[in-house]
Amino acid sequence: MTDETLRDKPADSLSEAEAEAELAALAAEIAAHDEAYFQHDAPSVSDAEYDALRLRNQAIEALFPALKRDDSPSERVGAAPSSGFGKVQHAVPMLSLANAFDDQDVEDFVASVRSFIKELRDDPDMPIAFMAEPKIDGLSCSLRYENGRLAQAATRGDGREGEDVTANIRTLKDVPEQLSAEAPSVLEVRGEVYMLHSDFAALNKDREGAGLPLYINPRNTAAGSLRQLDPTITAERNLKFFAYAWGEVSEPIAATMAEFRDKLRRWGFQTNEPARLCQSAQEMLAHYRTIAETRVDLPFDIDGVVYKVDRIDWQDRLGAVSRHPRWAIAHKFPAEQAQTRLEKITIQVGRTGALTPVANLEPITVGGVVVARATLHNQDEIARKDIREGDMVVIQRAGDVIPQVVSVVLDQRPADSKPFVFPDHCPECGSLAIREAGEAATRCTGGLICPAQAVERLRHFVSRDAFDIEGLGYKQIKYFFDEKMIASPGDIFRLAQTDEAAEEPLSGRKGWGETSVSNLFAAIEARRTIGLDRFVYALGIRQVGEATARLLARTYGTLDALGEAMDAAQDRESEAYASLIDIDQIGPSVADDLLGFFAEPHNREILRDLTDQITVEPFIGTDAGDSEISGKTVVFTGSLEQMTRSEAKARAESLGAKVAGSVSKKTDYVVVGADAGSKAKKAQELGLTTLTEAEWLALVGA
Ligand code: IVH
Repeated sequence: MTDETLRDKPADSLSEAEAEAELAALAAEIAAHDEAYFQHDAPSVSDAEYDALRLRNQAIEALFPALKRDDSPSERVGAAPSSGFGKVQHAVPMLSLANAFDDQDVEDFVASVRSFIKELRDDPDMPIAFMAEPKIDGLSCSLRYENGRLAQAATRGDGREGEDVTANIRTLKDVPEQLSAEAPSVLEVRGEVYMLHSDFAALNKDREGAGLPLYINPRNTAAGSLRQLDPTITAERNLKFFAYAWGEVSEPIAATMAEFRDKLRRWGFQTNEPARLCQSAQEMLAHYRTIAETRVDLPFDIDGVVYKVDRIDWQDRLGAVSRHPRWAIAHKFPAEQAQTRLEKITIQVGRTGALTPVANLEPITVGGVVVARATLHNQDEIARKDIREGDMVVIQRAGDVIPQVVSVVLDQRPADSKPFVFPDHCPECGSLAIREAGEAATRCTGGLICPAQAVERLRHFVSRDAFDIEGLGYKQIKYFFDEKMIASPGDIFRLAQTDEAAEEPLSGRKGWGETSVSNLFAAIEARRTIGLDRFVYALGIRQVGEATARLLARTYGTLDALGEAMDAAQDRESEAYASLIDIDQIGPSVADDLLGFFAEPHNREILRDLTDQITVEPFIGTDAGDSEISGKTVVFTGSLEQMTRSEAKARAESLGAKVAGSVSKKTDYVVVGADAGSKAKKAQELGLTTLTEAEWLALVGA
């Protein structure tokens, strides 16, 4: 497989691991082009190609916001090194928002809030107010005030750790150095750094005059301007700041969003306008339409409207699911469309062998960004829209999501056009490609012999949420694979030894400097010890993403225990199987993929080989600290008075517990609500600890 193939794969069909690897590759590639352009004045690619790389990076980041790298090209303009900034751990993670694309999504969001909070579910007439405010297209920052003085400012980074940009932030006129009215002694104000259209235009005009390359859009420029090592440059850029959220606070901040926004203004911040407190989905949608119509008149870019539950006690109860709060949603503006020629349809082979078609387009600007590729999803999608090579197609991109092919302009279809024939063989290894009943994807059956799949699996293995080996991106993996230096994961850890023995050591070969080689070996050494959750995720088992890997690690604790349980569970009648599928979120389908992986001798061999090289540490739940119920299995039964089942479950999970659907010997607590039936009885029989709802609430400190 060539470098091109992963690049051809539509962003929205990338797995998390592929996205991660691709973001790493893009960061490196764009940085190299930047260096060529800005430092050596010698562009290495055309502007359109460069823009397409940035667009792809942006699209992948939009789909996988959590994977956004600290050195993300979208946070950087020019060749400003990101390593120059200190790291800041966010005391409270900086979350991102789930998206709504149409009215139905907004109505569903309102309904989901209502069904989560018991009072709201029980009383359909009880109002829920939402604060609707524009979604500013900039970059988020967290400003920490201690005793009213600005102490530290950090970028979002990956949400857990950002960069210290205090000196730069101090140059912003919208950011008060000292809060004007009484504020909590610890207060983190979060908001968006952005640039006005007028400042962006003026800056580009200057650059044009000076013969410098123009900036792409205000958002990227704001990001690049903030991340200048020299704060005097930031100061010249006239960046702005809107405050809209908070992080760590030493005392409750307000009862409602409306009150919070008033306080922000009293302290000296600007808040996002036009905002409006809405009492229903209808009012929210009306406000959205008003903002959409007046959007062109706003002096800054917005890409949607954010709705937030107004009552902060409800926000607290709603909490977050993975990296999005349940109490807010971003309603994005609709897609922008354009027409262009589809030059060629190429096929990308992924880690699990899925063949994904990609439209290669004559590059075109859509909403200010150059688009050269669009996703075609799968065979059915091509057939349904009858998309052919050579067609004029309508493409669209919504916000910063990957472009899609919407339709074909039939009256511009070339006379000699032919329907696209989906390959029945893998373009990479030539193996038969088949599509199983009920599946959308056609898959290469080459398995272990397919080099494309092998490389993709290795990429996944070293990606950020897996082994996180810095310096081993797509290019390097591909190189080592082609040179037959790495074929399976264990080889990575033998690389340094092999290199020592090699006739032609790495450093000295084209593209490999001494420092990069020693950095790479150091990065590999640093990963000889790894937590069980990351290890399981790194294996790249189908349907086993980060969350499932974590769940498995939490359930089984050690790799040995996991291995034994998987062996025992091969018997679908066994207790081990029953308890596997009883883990909340692991159903028979995930269990099949999991057991299939462990049943395969080759995979066991890979595991053995790996564990000879590295140490897999038992799972330690870090997210929930040492809560009373961390690591415990809880079953809820009967109806609860104070909370909906969803809220109780979310609460238990946020404290590190596992919530199971049925009672077994392994259950630690059975919370028995009103009218509980057989599960309560079984708990009694097994002599388990049962709790009333009040006892449960006391235990979790609610
Ligand atoms: S609230 C817990 N409000 O959009 C989430 N975010 O796509 C706190 N953004 O990461 C965010 N305008 O950078 C919020 N009025 C607004 C916003 C806003 C822009 C950004 C923010 C966030 C991203 C999510």
